[in-house]
Amino acid sequence: MELKFRLLTLDDVPAIRTLSDSMDMRNDPKIGETAERIINDPVCDLYGAFAEGILVGVGGLRMLTSQYAWIEDVRVHGEYQRMGVGTGIFNYGEELARKKNCTLVAYQTVTENKGSCRIGENLGFKRSHEMTAFYIRQERAPAQEKDTSTLEPLPPEEALSLLKKMPRAPTEEICIGWAYRPLVASIFDDNPDMNFFVVKDTLALEVRRRGVTAGDIQYVNVIIYGNEENVLPLLEEMRRRNRNTEWIFCLVPGPLVSVLEGTDFTYGRVWNGEKNIVALFKKHL
Ligand SMILES: CC(C)(COP(=O)(O)OP(=O)(O)OC[C@H]1O[C@@H](n2cnc3c(N)ncnc32)[C@H](O)[C@@H]1OP(=O)(O)O)[C@@H](O)C(=O)NCCC(=O)NCCS
Repeated sequence: MELKFRLLTLDDVPAIRTLSDSMDMRNDPKIGETAERIINDPVCDLYGAFAEGILVGVGGLRMLTSQYAWIEDVRVHGEYQRMGVGTGIFNYGEELARKKNCTLVAYQTVTENKGSCRIGENLGFKRSHEMTAFYIRQERAPAQEKDTSTLEPLPPEEALSLLKKMPRAPTEEICIGWAYRPLVASIFDDNPDMNFFVVKDTLALEVRRRGVTAGDIQYVNVIIYGNEENVLPLLEEMRRRNRNTEWIFCLVPGPLVSVLEGTDFTYGRVWNGEKNIVALFKKHL
């Protein structure tokens, strides 16, 4: 099947919605609902793959820094999967990154997504950083009740410099929930929904996730690195800070997984019932 690629514009939104409607539940958030916002985002290019004029796949290339590009929002039309479209979408993202003089291109996927893992292997991406997701559904405190945590957020630069000295600290990227970001403080500056907290030699990154249209907080991701001894106290503080939020997801690296087991947090599961483990795939250009 011959594929033609080009950047998408607002004129393509109806075709993107058709593609979105053709997909199963692995289209979250629905690309038909987010496309307009992505097209208007100055640091992300949304591009499409066309077969005989039909939009059969989309992908987004986000510039995280001037040299680090991130492929996201990959979706292949439900009737065109397993025909090479996904491979073409990731490959075109890499080409775009090269044109922008990037030295790194990366993406994130859950390890159960055999298609996107296979594509990464085929295209020479290296699978690295993995985080396991847990969640808790808590009874929401009434809106007027303030949080009871005494922890104060740290400026990103200070937090990331402390992170470097923590046990088994990540050295190049940090997980932000369902994606990764390079350890560059400016990426986190001026983002009120991303806050760092440190207890001794353990760090938590709190990421508040908002709904696509209403902008209200839907759930909170808490990403934890460091010493196992401080994980649960830190998590308790994060729950105190987010008492008005029903769903809290906690993501931890392999060595901290056992700390969460047996607590009132439950393993996150993906569509096939397997554990929700998010992996980084990365390629030096
Ligand atoms: C994942 C997805 C992008 C793959 O796209 P695709 O066009 O079906 O993939 P391709 O046809 O290019 O397949 C590439 C390889 O993956 C394999 N593959 C694709 N889907 C697979 C599946 N569900 N299970 C196992 N292997 C799969 C193919 O067999 C092929 O392997 P090969 O090179 O050894 O023959 C597509 O299924 C999709 O849009 N899924 C929903 C959204 C999503 O998961 N996005 C990616 C988030 S990172």
